[in-house]
Amino acid sequence: MDRPYVILNAAMTVDGKISSVEEDSEISCERDLDRVHLIRSEVDGIMVGIGTVLSDNPRLTVRRADGENPTRIIVDSLLRTPSDARVLDNSARTIIATSEKAEDKDRERIRSQNVEVIATGDKKVDLKSLLRILKREGIERLLLEGGSTLNWGMLDQGLVDEVRIAIHPCIVGGESAKTLVGGRGMKKIEEGVKLRLTEVERVGEDLLLVYKTEGSSSD
Ligand SMILES: NC(=O)c1ccc[n+]([C@@H]2O[C@H](COP(=O)([O-])OP(=O)(O)OC[C@H]3O[C@@H](n4cnc5c(N)ncnc54)[C@H](OP(=O)(O)O)[C@@H]3O)[C@@H](O)[C@H]2O)c1
Repeated sequence: MDRPYVILNAAMTVDGKISSVEEDSEISCERDLDRVHLIRSEVDGIMVGIGTVLSDNPRLTVRRADGENPTRIIVDSLLRTPSDARVLDNSARTIIATSEKAEDKDRERIRSQNVEVIATGDKKVDLKSLLRILKREGIERLLLEGGSTLNWGMLDQGLVDEVRIAIHPCIVGGESAKTLVGGRGMKKIEEGVKLRLTEVERVGEDLLLVYKTEGSSSD
């Protein structure tokens, strides 16, 4: 395969939300957070969209498990990542994937912070091409940690092999609250990405569901 094996992981409420109307995304129970940090320690890269960086300011490091920090990859077509974002704190190798539309001054700003910049795609990051580059950079296993829009982009292009969802026993509602997958959406149910359930587990108060996508390389 010319791209990494991709695991989409998310914490979700029973009503499918990955954050509230006020973008509160602290959904996981303690045991689930441990599980997420363990997966982080087992992959070569963690990828999120710029929306998640701007709303959650995550560190994307391994703190609740033993192991090395994987490479952090931020998908950010216009280089909007703020200079004081935690992902730029140099605690792990960090790559910002951007597009040709990003301005040179922002490329210089990011590079001056010891962060690699990879440009691919005219206006938006070309995810297929990015994944090929990441594979050449030694990233064999990639954890996709959202958010909603990037999850759509990756699933729509058939770039996800496995989906792990921790369902927290809580309902928050709200039309504007982000769901697991946003984007344009499929017109018909039959067009949906087909999944095969491979694991069901209780993790603390949460319910973990693991699926393989149809045609996954590990089938
Ligand atoms: N519960 C959880 O597990 C969890 C995990 C992560 C995030 N979240 C929540 O998710 C929300 C953020 O989701 P979001 O949808 O706003 O943002 P997002 O998915 O994190 O980032 C989306 C952005 O990525 C950029 N992008 C560049 N190229 C892309 C491409 N080819 N396909 C898709 N996106 C591309 C676009 O911005 P540019 O055009 O500017 O590049 C796009 O708007 C937050 O509320 C956060 O708390 C929850």
